[in-house]
Amino acid sequence: MKDLLRHRTSLKEEIEILLNNQVKMEAEASAKYLAMASWCDRNGYLKSSAYFLRQADEEREHMMKIFNYILTVGGTAISPEVPAVKQEYPTFRSVFETALQSEISVTQSINRIVTASRKEEDYATEAFLDWFVKEQVEEEDNARRTLELFDVIGEEGTGRYFIDKEIGKLNGGDA
Ligand code: FEO
Repeated sequence: MKDLLRHRTSLKEEIEILLNNQVKMEAEASAKYLAMASWCDRNGYLKSSAYFLRQADEEREHMMKIFNYILTVGGTAISPEVPAVKQEYPTFRSVFETALQSEISVTQSINRIVTASRKEEDYATEAFLDWFVKEQVEEEDNARRTLELFDVIGEEGTGRYFIDKEIGKLNGGDA
């Protein structure tokens, strides 16, 4: 059955697997950001919590973009299983370090799919992923900016209060 259906699409199985893995990675990113939003909220960093909630929404949008693309090109989109994500963080700063690391992993993963698409002469998928390549430049830039704020403001005294306030302005925040 699967083989018969396979003949009706130009999407190669290898690319379909990579795209479904990316759906899962974006779902996991959304779950991670929810955990970060919760950690920030219960530790008094309300603007950062709102920032992570916005990030979580964006990751779900990324997930749905890829999910819908798989459907459009006649593939089998798989509803992702999300593994348990870390709920606790040792420090305020470490939350943002983890977020940057996570964005860098997503960039690398997107790049690997672009490379595979090119190798398989799947130019439709390569063109589709162009949006994600550009989006990751922004995502990493935001994540790096949060860490710069820790450095330029400093955590001592009321530092963390002001860091939280500035983070609230990033990525569409009106804080
Ligand atoms: Fe969808 Fe932040 O990567």
